Amino acid sequence: MKKVTLFALLLVAALLAACAAPAAPADSSAEQEPTAESATTEESAEESANAASAEEVVAADGSISCGDEEVTITYIGDPAGSHPAAEAATIERFKEVCPNITVERIEGDANVQNLLAVYLTAFEAQSSDFDVIRVDVIWPGLLAEHLLDLSGYVSQAQIDSYIPSLVQNDTVDGQLVAVPLRIGFGMLYYRTDLLEKYGFDAPPATWEDLASMAQTIQDGERAEGNEEFWGYVWQGSAYEGLTTNALEWQVSNGGGSIVSPEGEIEVNNAETLAAFERAAGWVGTISPPGVVSYQEEDARGIWHAGNAAFMRNWPYAYSSSTESEAVNGNFDVAPVPAGDSGQGAATLGGWHIGVSRYSAHPAAAAAFAAYMTSAENEKHYSIDTTSPPGILDLYSDPDIQASMPFADPAIVEVTTPRPSTATAAKYNEVSTLYFTAVHSILTGEEDAQTALELLELDLITLLDQ
Ligand code: GLC
Repeated sequence: MKKVTLFALLLVAALLAACAAPAAPADSSAEQEPTAESATTEESAEESANAASAEEVVAADGSISCGDEEVTITYIGDPAGSHPAAEAATIERFKEVCPNITVERIEGDANVQNLLAVYLTAFEAQSSDFDVIRVDVIWPGLLAEHLLDLSGYVSQAQIDSYIPSLVQNDTVDGQLVAVPLRIGFGMLYYRTDLLEKYGFDAPPATWEDLASMAQTIQDGERAEGNEEFWGYVWQGSAYEGLTTNALEWQVSNGGGSIVSPEGEIEVNNAETLAAFERAAGWVGTISPPGVVSYQEEDARGIWHAGNAAFMRNWPYAYSSSTESEAVNGNFDVAPVPAGDSGQGAATLGGWHIGVSRYSAHPAAAAAFAAYMTSAENEKHYSIDTTSPPGILDLYSDPDIQASMPFADPAIVEVTTPRPSTATAAKYNEVSTLYFTAVHSILTGEEDAQTALELLELDLITLLDQ
């Protein structure tokens, strides 16, 4: 299998940086102090209580201290599907480090909006039903009030080992409300065998290239009898995943990033309109009509069956693709294609770990969060899931490089963040308005111009502008 070289990615990284895409999450939280030290300067009574129990967790040498109480904690983990064994293996390793702490894992919902609703319902009730949760990169601002400040629980050396912009993303009003486990960014998966068969010597550089290559391959494969073959699969259902796809179309076309880091609404413009009309044109031509109800796993299912030439997905689909008989050895990944701006964009995703403020066992829960995001665990976990780690030094680890040649920490700094820092507590509503509008364009329910005008008005109302 041909691999995307590090050089190619660095080049892309440089190009993306040059396009002065919206600032990384770090930039817009400039006034927030990212370090644990500063987090403890404005201590409330509650924080002092946290800090007291924290001493039990972080041992003098900075390693994880388990306490000696026998406890069971609950962790809301990855949904079934992609890598069911990776978290189970994490929990087994943790059991060796802290034999007195038992972790019960409950599968979280694969749809992030549904998962968020479950969290918020429990948090509003101050429920102690779960202790440790997966926190989407877009949620720290939204969930901060319900999450424990982990700065006293995770050793400073470990905090310093995380990619700095992720620590800043997870620091809200000086509190470290989550710690980074893995990052994600949009990538284009493509079939090397089919590109070769139809005479293409490189993956598509632009959306136009993608559409014409997808059409050629689809026509050819169907003519050979595979009626189920499609050119391009992606995430078009009305949910958070559509926000991540649509943001890539919009940014790559030069249409702005929904809400700029300065709070300016950026949706109703010619570039965005053209980007969304182009995507609507894929539905039912190079993409199945049902793509408007696809989430990640639906796209992955078609791709894994060998029935798609191209797929937009996250890094996690890389290792599972190598496990698929139909595509293993016949695929590679490339940057998401460029739009009219001449550059591509890759939405930043990823998962972080947080501890509920309502946990009955905060020290044990924090010990698990610290272990999950330790270098020891992240190395195994990243390789098992082909999801680039949150710890910077691991990127130069030869085993990590071998398992995911596309992983480069530089890309984190040039990916496009969703406007979750600028809109904080309102992010979920912003995203819901956005994907609902985009979805109405994809399905033809609304014309693009009207949908964008209405979206702009709704965002103005929501953000009090
Ligand atoms: C992936 C990303 C996450 C994103 C979600 C959308 O899980 O890591 O950040 O919100 O997809 O479906």
